[in-house]
Amino acid sequence: MKIFKTLDDLNLWRDSITDSVGFVPTMGALHEGHLSLCEKAKKDNKTVMASVFVNPTQFAPHEDFDAYPRNLEKDAELLKSVGVDVVWAPTKDIMYPQGFVTTVHLDGISQVLEGEFRPTHFDGVTTVVSKLFGQVRPTRSYFGEKDYQQLQIIKRMTTDLNIQTEIIGCPIVRDDEGLALSSRNAYLSDEEIKIARQLNVLLKSAKSRAQNSNIKEAEKSIADELLKIGFNKIDYVAIRNAENLKSVQNLDTENVRILAAAFLNKTRLIDNTEV
Ligand code: PAJ
Repeated sequence: MKIFKTLDDLNLWRDSITDSVGFVPTMGALHEGHLSLCEKAKKDNKTVMASVFVNPTQFAPHEDFDAYPRNLEKDAELLKSVGVDVVWAPTKDIMYPQGFVTTVHLDGISQVLEGEFRPTHFDGVTTVVSKLFGQVRPTRSYFGEKDYQQLQIIKRMTTDLNIQTEIIGCPIVRDDEGLALSSRNAYLSDEEIKIARQLNVLLKSAKSRAQNSNIKEAEKSIADELLKIGFNKIDYVAIRNAENLKSVQNLDTENVRILAAAFLNKTRLIDNTEV
């Protein structure tokens, strides 16, 4: 497995590839969730590239950019174990050289849910992912449903900008009790993990709750329950259209998803599931 750290090395390699390239962008601190995307990419493509870059522009000043776990050596071992061919590990100066002034911004879908609570987050994501697409020129690109809003935003962006890569969404990998794997789970104590494992259970109750009352009441009852079991702050619990993430009226006629973000002490967890 090759590890590239300069654009020259990346370009030289990319120019030599004529078959399909599957691409898995990551911020490292890899776990089975990330590796599942690589495995899917390996099945679909001749060559698989993963990127590891903790993107500063998607973190707000008060967020965990400095604390975000970094260990390229360990990540490289894991990527190699699932057959990734090439790792792209650029520095901050390569991604954002002096004079860099461009932002990719999506209206609407970037401003709701996560966007409401992390107002600059998706501009950072869409800008860096556009750059990565330009650098890697992937045939297919793999994103987890764990970051469901991010996946829908990237799909919209590639359509809007005519970016020639197929976006493939992959299912959430969870532990035995349903907790969605996340690099941020490392911040949780054993006690907090037990509480965190209830999040997916409560989200799965959305359909029956919404059928017994209305959608707004169902969202509120799940948020109240989360507070009762030990979450200390709820950013949102929202039942939305699965593609454009707008509010829904009718669970039976639309493709619907429930999404949530909630805090256990200082750790912010997100999860979502089909309704
Ligand atoms: P990161 O959080 O490292 O996640 C990289 C990819 O792994 C994302 O597509 C994410 O949805 C997926 N992933 C994470 N946990 C998962 C799980 N439990 N099951 C399935 N997939 C999972 O998302 C980012 O990085 C960044 O925003 C990035 C796209 C790399 C841009 O900087």
